[in-house]
Amino acid sequence: MNILVIGGGGREHAIAASLSKSPLTKKLVVAPGNPGIEMFAQCYPIAADDIPGQCKLAKDIRADFVFIGPEIPLVLGLKDELLKLGISAFGPSKKAAQLEGSKTFSREFCKRHNIPQPEFKYCTDIKTAKKQIELLNGYCVVKADGLAAGKGVVVCDTVNHAIIEATEILENNKFGEAGKSILIEERINGIEASVFAVSDGDTAVLIGTAQDHKRAYDNDQGPNTGGMGAISPAPALNQSLNREIFNDIIMPTVHGMKSEGNPYEGILYAGIMVTDKGPKVIEFNCRFGDPETQVVLPRLNTDLVKIVQKTISKNLKNMAVNFIPQKAITVVIASNGYPGEFEKGIVLPSLNEFKNKTEISVFHSGTKKDENENLVSNGGRVLSITSIGDNIQECRQKAYNIVEAINWKQGFYRKDIGKL
Ligand code: AMP
Ligand code: GLY
Repeated sequence: MNILVIGGGGREHAIAASLSKSPLTKKLVVAPGNPGIEMFAQCYPIAADDIPGQCKLAKDIRADFVFIGPEIPLVLGLKDELLKLGISAFGPSKKAAQLEGSKTFSREFCKRHNIPQPEFKYCTDIKTAKKQIELLNGYCVVKADGLAAGKGVVVCDTVNHAIIEATEILENNKFGEAGKSILIEERINGIEASVFAVSDGDTAVLIGTAQDHKRAYDNDQGPNTGGMGAISPAPALNQSLNREIFNDIIMPTVHGMKSEGNPYEGILYAGIMVTDKGPKVIEFNCRFGDPETQVVLPRLNTDLVKIVQKTISKNLKNMAVNFIPQKAITVVIASNGYPGEFEKGIVLPSLNEFKNKTEISVFHSGTKKDENENLVSNGGRVLSITSIGDNIQECRQKAYNIVEAINWKQGFYRKDIGKL
């Protein structure tokens, strides 16, 4: 098979690595890719959101399918454009991707289908927002409706703070179009988990669970980031909770999307809070998580290409997805300053000695080669070090040994990923 993967982060490195292991893969192309991916796949410098560019590439390489990694091309309708050219794609259509692209759509959808979630209020003006914030005594979450690169959600404790945030988004256009409307949500408490399912539009199957570590610093301090590390499976979940999430959240979503004429095909990522009233949806994403993919896919013991084929042919029913019994953790090494301002183009230590290690993977998140062919940083999150082991303690030891050996002085990492 000829496969094109769209994206160039740690998630896509992990996706491409899994696809490359399949005996069904003949040609693997990634765009834009990164120097880590370049070691085993052909990369083309086409941006993930360049829809015409990606369509042309898919045609040129005669792709049997395109695996769309990030949310932006999905929300922009890359799948729909590829289908017009007769090219199959793994990922939801533009309309189905609204589950992530519009938080309001997603909340209203869950309400229509009785999917458990926090109470919410849709607001387009500050007066309505203030009223709702006061009703909740400021103990609430303020969310920009659209995509805001993970920065559009603020968890608040006080009326003052919530009003300031709502004003910034609604009146001062902090997120532009993405903040034309906001949600004020009831703030719920519990342990979070990321649940990944794959759906062919009719049915779904769980493909892994993980716990993300979103805050920048140890002990969940500091600002929210895209994720500073993850472990799989999610410690907050067990078989019975997985079943409950599958039956009460995943399947009603798949049936609901189909009944509304927007069948959902691809990865459905449910961000869950396990509360004392059961699991509730914090958000849906229409793609794999980053860095969760770097722990979910290394545990997958079923050919990812086969899973994609069965999804595209709407044949997922009765597909058994297996996992290795071991656990996985990933530790992200980020640029100093992330998630605020940071420098790019800083030379990274050589990673050669970490190639070909068993049960260890060094995924590239934000790296590139400079004009002198040096490997340099090219993003907030730079590397993601995954290890597999019989227990989380063993995983931690292996992953942190590598993180310390890499010893990149201009970066930082959390020391408590997977600390129980
Ligand atoms: P999101 O970008 O929607 O994943 O939200 C970022 C983080 O905000 C989540 O991981 C949660 O920790 C928190 N959060 C979002 N919505 C709520 C809510 N309704 N109640 C409590 N925490 C929330
Ligand atoms: N790690 C969170 C996300 O991928 O959205």
